[in-house]
Amino acid sequence: MAASMASPPPIARLANKVAIVTGGARGIGESIVRSFIEQGAKVVIADIRNDLGKSVCQDIGVDDSVSFVHCDVTIESDVENVINTTIAKYGQLDVMVNNAGITDEPKLSILDNNKSDFERVISVNLTGVFLGTKHAARVMIPKCKGSIITIASVASITGGGTSHAYTSSKHGVVGLAKNVAAELGKYQIRVNSISPYVIPTVAACKFFDIDDTSSVYSNLKGKTLGPRDVANAAIFLASDESGYISGHNLVVDGGFSVLNPTFGLFSWPTTI
Ligand SMILES: NC(=O)c1ccc[n+]([C@@H]2O[C@H](COP(=O)([O-])OP(=O)(O)OC[C@H]3O[C@@H](n4cnc5c(N)ncnc54)[C@H](O)[C@@H]3O)[C@@H](O)[C@H]2O)c1
Repeated sequence: MAASMASPPPIARLANKVAIVTGGARGIGESIVRSFIEQGAKVVIADIRNDLGKSVCQDIGVDDSVSFVHCDVTIESDVENVINTTIAKYGQLDVMVNNAGITDEPKLSILDNNKSDFERVISVNLTGVFLGTKHAARVMIPKCKGSIITIASVASITGGGTSHAYTSSKHGVVGLAKNVAAELGKYQIRVNSISPYVIPTVAACKFFDIDDTSSVYSNLKGKTLGPRDVANAAIFLASDESGYISGHNLVVDGGFSVLNPTFGLFSWPTTI
């Protein structure tokens, strides 16, 4: 008799894992939360937007697989609390996603940028990631396992696309991830970052003065980047599939950052 051609059941890639996603109440973070749940994880949303965070939990509504904890990532006691609450509720923390981030006003000249605006962005985008990484490491080190993922940006490897504060913060988090990856390897804890290109979320629309129907330049003709593409990268780095990857900045930009516009738009010859 011919062997059955039925497809094997899909394997949940994050089964038995517990994750925290900061800034998980909307945008890219929300997409990461939903994707992680689909892959079998239990997820805690840590955000300042109680209304949005709770409504995402209600909408997902899978038993106790998702919960919300109020957390401002710039406040160390809030970050400590979300980690401790997660351990109290689920008994473990396997994946920390430092996603919460903000943009500032698009003031092009550094002369127009003031210190308090600069520090506000650094406080959420860099200090917030430092705190999330530190307190995740605190509970991961004794277990000798864990994956810490920071959502950086193509602004971590390019200049001129965003504000000085934002670009500085995103370069900073990649450096932080590399340093912590170097330190925590001895505990088998992996630390990586993801650097997406532009996605028209609320924050990006405000900064670039576009709306979610605007067409954004893409180096991959006919394709536009969406939050799910970033979530897919996060699933990979959270899962055991990426078990030997640490200290890596996974750029999700369709090749945007390797394109040098001074070369002009050319086609490779079909024969060399
Ligand atoms: N959208 C893009 O084009 C793009 C591209 C590259 C990288 N990113 C990065 O992706 C991440 C998510 O961006 P997004 O576009 O989804 O933004 P968003 O504004 O849609 O969502 C950000 C979330 O973070 C939360 N947040 C803000 N400050 C916080 C704080 N202090 N503590 C806790 N939560 C806080 C917000 O409430 C919100 O839920 C950010 O780190 C951003 O820099 C975005």
